Amino acid sequence: MTIQSQSYSNVAVVGLGKLGLTLAAVFANNRYNVTGADINKDVVASVNRGESHIQNEPGLNHLVLKAHKDKTLSATADTVEAVAKSDIIIVIVPVLVDEQDNTDYQYMDLAIEDIAKGIKKDSLVIIETTLPPGDTEHRFGKKIEEVSGLKPGEDFYLANSPERVYSSQIIHNLKNYPKVVGGINKESLKLASDFYKQALGCDLIKVSSLETAEFSKVAECVYRDVNIALANELAVFAEEKGVNMAEVISASNSQPYSNLHSPGIGVGGHCIPIYPYFFINKGLSDGLTTLSREINDNMAAYAISKVEKQAGSIEGKNILILGLSYRGNVKEPTKSTALLLISQMRDKGAQPFVNDPLFSDREIRQYGATPLSLDDTRCSEMDAIILQAFHQEYSMIDFSQFPRCQLILDGRNKFNKNEISQPGIAYEGIGNEGGL
Ligand SMILES: NC(=O)c1ccc[n+]([C@@H]2O[C@H](COP(=O)([O-])OP(=O)(O)OC[C@H]3O[C@@H](n4cnc5c(N)ncnc54)[C@H](O)[C@@H]3O)[C@@H](O)[C@H]2O)c1
Repeated sequence: MTIQSQSYSNVAVVGLGKLGLTLAAVFANNRYNVTGADINKDVVASVNRGESHIQNEPGLNHLVLKAHKDKTLSATADTVEAVAKSDIIIVIVPVLVDEQDNTDYQYMDLAIEDIAKGIKKDSLVIIETTLPPGDTEHRFGKKIEEVSGLKPGEDFYLANSPERVYSSQIIHNLKNYPKVVGGINKESLKLASDFYKQALGCDLIKVSSLETAEFSKVAECVYRDVNIALANELAVFAEEKGVNMAEVISASNSQPYSNLHSPGIGVGGHCIPIYPYFFINKGLSDGLTTLSREINDNMAAYAISKVEKQAGSIEGKNILILGLSYRGNVKEPTKSTALLLISQMRDKGAQPFVNDPLFSDREIRQYGATPLSLDDTRCSEMDAIILQAFHQEYSMIDFSQFPRCQLILDGRNKFNKNEISQPGIAYEGIGNEGGL
C-alpha cells in the first residue's frame, strides 16, 4: 500500500452517540466530508435535520448545524454504504459489560460486520471504542479479513485510538488532550496520526502497538477505580479513628508523590466501573483490580449502614436519594450508585424516593424509586437524605422543609454542613467530613 494521507478526505463515523456525533461534527468542521452511521433511525433523522440529539455538550449544537449547512455532515442507518464511500472509518460504538460483568460485544460485532461488508482496499479503520487489549487486531481486524478478504496491515490500514474525554467537555478535550494512537504497522500509525493532527489539531502520543493503545485506556480507568477504592478504604478507617479524611488528603497531597483521591459512596458511569472488567475477564482476576471494584461497590451498603446507625432500622422509612445520575450535572444512570442504593433499600423494606432534575418522573420510576420534587409536600415525610450526585440545583436546598429527617448523608462531601445545619438533622460526610 502507498500512503497519500492528503487524499483521505471522506470519513465514516460509525456510532453517532455522545462521542461519535461530537467527533463527526468536529471532523466535518475541519474540512472532512463526514457520513455518520447509526442503527438508531431517530438519531440519523435528527443529524440530517442539522440537530444534535445529545444535550449538555457545549458547542455541539452549533457544530452540527454548521456542518449540516455546509453539507459536510450527513447521516445514514446504512453502515455498509457509509463505509463504502469513505477512506477513513472511525468506529465508536460501545463495548459494555453485561449483568454478570462479562464483556458484551453485541453492538461492536454488528458494526464490524457491516464495516467488513463495505470496506474498500487501502481504507484506514480506526477503532476508538475502549476495548480489552488485543481486540482491535485479533477480534475485529480478523473479522474484517474473514468477511471482506482484505488483510489488515496489507490491504487496509488498522489503528486504535481510545477516546479519553470527559462528558460535558468533549469538544474542549478533543483539542486539548493528547491523542494516543497505535497502529498494526508503521504505515497505519502514520496515516492515523496524520488524520488526527489535521482533524483535531491535537498533540499525539504514538505508541508502539495496537495493544499498547488499548491497554493505556483501560489502565487509566483501573487507575481511577483503584485509587478511589484506596480513598474509600482510608476514609472508612478515618471514621473509625475519628480523623477527618479531607484534612488527611490535603496534608498528604502537599508533596508531589501523593495523589490521594476523594472518597465517596460509590463509582458509577459507563467507564470507571466497567472497563476494569476488560482486565478481570481477560485473566487479571486476582489482586487490586477486582478488590477495588468490590470496595467501591460496597460503599452503597456502607452508606445505608450509616443511615441505620443514626436512625435505627430503615424498614418502613422514607429515604430520599438526591441524584439518580452517577455524577453531578450529567444525565447518565449507567452503574450509578443510586441503583445500588435503591435495590438495597428495597431489600431492607425502606421506601426509596429519588430527586433528579435531569430525569422525568417516568424515568425515575423505571429504576424502582418514587420521584420526589423538592417542592413536594411529601418532603416533610422523609426520614433521611443521601446525596448521591451533586447537581448544581442542590447548592440551594432549603433543608427546613425536611422536619422529620434525622440524617443528611453527604455521599459526595459537597454540602457545607454549617449552612445546612437544622435542629434535629444530623450531617455526615464520607471520611468523617463534618463528623468533627
Ligand atoms: N461517553 C463518554 O464520555 C466516553 C468517554 C470516553 C470514551 N467513550 C467511548 O465511546 C464509546 C461510545 O460512547 P458514547 O457515549 O458515544 O455511547 P452512546 O451510547 O452515546 O452512543 C453509541 C451509539 O452507537 C450506536 N450504535 C450501536 N450499535 C451500532 C452499530 N452496530 N452500528 C452503528 N451504530 C451503532 C447507538 O445507536 C448509539 O447512538 C464508549 O463505549 C467508550 O468506548 C465514551
